[in-house]
Amino acid sequence: MLSEVLTHLAPEPGKIYCDLTFGDGGYTKAILDSCDCKVVAVDQDPTAYEKALQLAATPDYKGRLFPLLSKFGQIDSAVKKNFDWSFPCFDGMVMDIGVSSGQIETASRGFSYKLDGPLDMRMSRLMRKSISAYELVNFYSREQIADIIYKYGGDRLSRKIAAAIVDARQKAPIETTGELAAIVQKTCPQPRWQRGDDDMLRNSAARTFQALRIYINDELAELESALRSSEYLLRPQGRLVVVSFHSLEDRIAKNFLYHCAGKRSTQEAETNHVVPSFELKSKSVVQASKEETAVNSRSRSAKLRVGQRTMAEPLSPFGPLDL
Ligand SMILES: C[S@@+](CC[C@H](N)C(=O)[O-])C[C@H]1O[C@@H](n2cnc3c(N)ncnc32)[C@H](O)[C@@H]1O
Repeated sequence: MLSEVLTHLAPEPGKIYCDLTFGDGGYTKAILDSCDCKVVAVDQDPTAYEKALQLAATPDYKGRLFPLLSKFGQIDSAVKKNFDWSFPCFDGMVMDIGVSSGQIETASRGFSYKLDGPLDMRMSRLMRKSISAYELVNFYSREQIADIIYKYGGDRLSRKIAAAIVDARQKAPIETTGELAAIVQKTCPQPRWQRGDDDMLRNSAARTFQALRIYINDELAELESALRSSEYLLRPQGRLVVVSFHSLEDRIAKNFLYHCAGKRSTQEAETNHVVPSFELKSKSVVQASKEETAVNSRSRSAKLRVGQRTMAEPLSPFGPLDL
């Protein structure tokens, strides 16, 4: 979705952008290469942050790239702590939710059901609760595990999978991603002709791993919090571009933008005649091109939404936003 992101973010020289999910740096580099602008690059993963620091020291990006090790749900306090800037300070913000290629391809991080590694899945240890996949799989109750797989993975066989996990751990702790994947795949075998297909609609192991990851990293609450902060951090005309891969994430981004654009009839909007804080820029959701989906199957589920900040006051007070 890189070219779509650039089109909708529309970077301009002299402006400051925030990449809330630096990852492997693809979006940040593309923004910085597109014109003489600056980027604050956020990631909660120390490995991604290290990469960003190295990139920031290279001649092309020196003085233009500012890495921040933070959860994006705390972007406002991270900016306050690290820069002497008053709000609003960004001319555009982008989020590419989920797991990076670097994370998924490193077996020792425990994100992949295809690579054998320890059951971890933590993007960072910045969280207080910070439990690992090992703790979740071996110590949560069968009901808790089933609820997580159903809620975040949408798997109708969640109860069966949870029962198989509990059965297996009674014999010996489940230590690795390979062991967990084998349990799920044995419980919900894919037909031979679908094997090797990563598609979430078809692959139970992919869905179970995704569900555990979303829960462990508290991804939905983080997203809500970052969206809310964008109202305070974006200058008028600044764009918010959100790329997501999961229907729950897309729903949160959509509801937020529709709410702020006054497209949702809420009691508050009706009684206080609120002025929209965002204008919707893409009529509906933007999806990856046929060319991209042909070479990158994961992009099939990508959805991009974009809003442009207006001059109006933020609609959401600091505190949880009821979406
Ligand atoms: C899909 S990747 C981004 C890939 C990036 N756009 C690129 O071009 O390489 C998502 C990144 O967001 C980070 N991330 C996920 N949740 C986060 C959060 N709550 N706070 C900060 N970073 C987060 C992950 O650690 C990961 O590196």
